[in-house]
Amino acid sequence: MTLSRMVAGLLVLVTITLGGQKAGWWAQPEPREPHPPTPAALAFAEAQRAEQARVAAARAENERLAAVQAPAETEDILPAGDGREETFTNCTACHSTAIIRRSGLTRERWDALIDWMVEKQNMAPLQPETRVLIVDYLAGAFPGRSTSPRARNPFLTD
Ligand code: HEC
Repeated sequence: MTLSRMVAGLLVLVTITLGGQKAGWWAQPEPREPHPPTPAALAFAEAQRAEQARVAAARAENERLAAVQAPAETEDILPAGDGREETFTNCTACHSTAIIRRSGLTRERWDALIDWMVEKQNMAPLQPETRVLIVDYLAGAFPGRSTSPRARNPFLTD
């Protein structure tokens, strides 16, 4: 009696399970379509692509420039002489030596130029003995030829 009830119960359970499966009662819901991207998401993706392109272009330009850039100057670009090292060390923080090499000034004018560099261009004042060394070096290596606009121009007195 009990056994047949159990069998009957089992049969009912199996029927419900199989029937329900056929009817799709336990089917997983279909995954929903993802939302179409919003205009903001599209704009963001577009901006990201543009930014990546900009970075890539800048990187390529940097590489191109690095390839053509002149090698950094070294001290021996200046004529040998006492004070060359001090001149190179103290005078290339703001500009290359080209601006120095193209100049030709008397000792007084080199001296005055350093004052001008300190007063007008924010150069740190030199130690007195270093300054003498540098001015002597400059006057010897780049003597007054009056090629500098500053030396030639009678209206530039400072
Ligand atoms: C703190 C920065 C700085 C330092 C250091 C410096 N200079 Fe200059 N120098 C300048 C600037 C800026 C100019 C260009 C000013 C301009 O033409 O507008 C200049 C211009 C010059 C010029 C051209 C001047 C002309 O008009 O003909 C010479 C030559 C020169 N410097 C030599 C030197 C020497 C030599 C030293 C080292 C004793 C030196 N500079 C150190 C900033 C500096």
